[in-house]
Amino acid sequence: MAQKFPTRENVKKILQNFGVSEGVIYLNGQVLHERDDTDVEYPFRQESNFFYVTGVPEPDFHVVIDLATQQVELYAPNINPDHVMWMGMPDSLETLRAKYDIDEAFYVDKLNERLSKASTVYTLPIADRKLLEESKASVADADKNKALYTAFVEARCVKADWEVEVIRQANKISSDAHVKLMQTVKQGMNEQELYALFLYESVRHGALFQSYYPIVGVGMNAATLHYNKNNAVMKEATDMVLVDAGAEYRCYASDITRAFPVGGKFSEEAKVIYSIVLDMQKACLAKCKAGVAWEDIHNTATEVACDGLLKAGILVGSKQDILANHVVAAFFPHGVGHMLGLDVHDVGGYPEGVERIDAPGIRNLRMRRTLAKGHVVTVEPGVYFCDFLIDPVLKAAETGKYINQDMLNKYKSVGGVRIEDNILITEDGHINLTTAPKEIAEIEALMAAGADQESKKRKLEA
Ligand code: GLY
Ligand code: MN
Ligand code: MN
Repeated sequence: MAQKFPTRENVKKILQNFGVSEGVIYLNGQVLHERDDTDVEYPFRQESNFFYVTGVPEPDFHVVIDLATQQVELYAPNINPDHVMWMGMPDSLETLRAKYDIDEAFYVDKLNERLSKASTVYTLPIADRKLLEESKASVADADKNKALYTAFVEARCVKADWEVEVIRQANKISSDAHVKLMQTVKQGMNEQELYALFLYESVRHGALFQSYYPIVGVGMNAATLHYNKNNAVMKEATDMVLVDAGAEYRCYASDITRAFPVGGKFSEEAKVIYSIVLDMQKACLAKCKAGVAWEDIHNTATEVACDGLLKAGILVGSKQDILANHVVAAFFPHGVGHMLGLDVHDVGGYPEGVERIDAPGIRNLRMRRTLAKGHVVTVEPGVYFCDFLIDPVLKAAETGKYINQDMLNKYKSVGGVRIEDNILITEDGHINLTTAPKEIAEIEALMAAGADQESKKRKLEA
């Protein structure tokens, strides 16, 4: 049996944040969905808030948390003989009590009565209201339910040590899978082979699901931030391939990006662009610690990109003017990173009352928050050559003068580079949870060893 998660710690954090001591919290878990007009089930994933307080990864459960006693009661679906015939016998109530960090387990036919007797039922705005209406429960008003949501979000932002260990495990599986991809890629392969290998490496290590649809993009495909066709042939040895993929382990996400040359050797152009992105990431990582505003980390990435693109000759002119005119956003159009947890773009990026900064690039930042101990975030700068984004900046008189078109054309074929790690924020720095290599020399050595192994294997098979 998988190790029991101490989810009661999460419940305690929520109750402390919420500060209400009478009534109950009610949440429904996710239900199974089927494709239209069929009985083919979509893959099941538990709703994250429900998982956070129960650790139950299965469908059709409910939970009631008594605010006065802090007792956690789980309500399991009734045993349905048809369901047992197809899917096997579910856990008994006794097994559920032992398996999860809860006080009581009942079948769902007891739920209506429980809810109807509670003085007030608090629930999340996303909850399914049908059952609450049927039970005639006294549901709290929208403001109170929003306060409960905020209590969940604030609790989920600060990871418990055991949550960090699960995210570390997701990172280990994914980092190792990224290494396998680097060792296996060969000129002439299709992106889909790398995609399949990432899934294989994840699943065989116990991560049956991905945190998001993996991105495997060669050459110019990498300039599309969330490219997901994953079906092009990697024709050129000098082409870079970008892999943004992270396995989900026991409902916790990882989110890692690596970029490497198909043939194992970085071209001169790829080296230049890759080094700019690596410098961006290193400068950002050096600043990540409790008390720092996340937008400052984004601005650091932008400044280092500006320095690098000036040095490469792609940008020309005064750094101050280039930054004031937001030219770098044409090459680095997304935010530098986001919260990570049960969801890949985890809750809590924008606390109540905090708005997005309305300027190119930074407006896409998924988080504006002061870093605190226990936050887990991604740090994922990138440089991309996407005509759709660069052309308007190039054509506008006030910004076009800062771009050298010849140099732009020289580097364009690199497509896009992103380097993404997952880190835990500490009081005076951070701990990097991602172990996949990212130095050029390390990647080249690893790929050379991988190619060597492959050729030995082929000789043995011949
Ligand atoms: N994989 C999605 C992201 O990096 O945010
Ligand atoms: Mn990613
Ligand atoms: Mn990310």
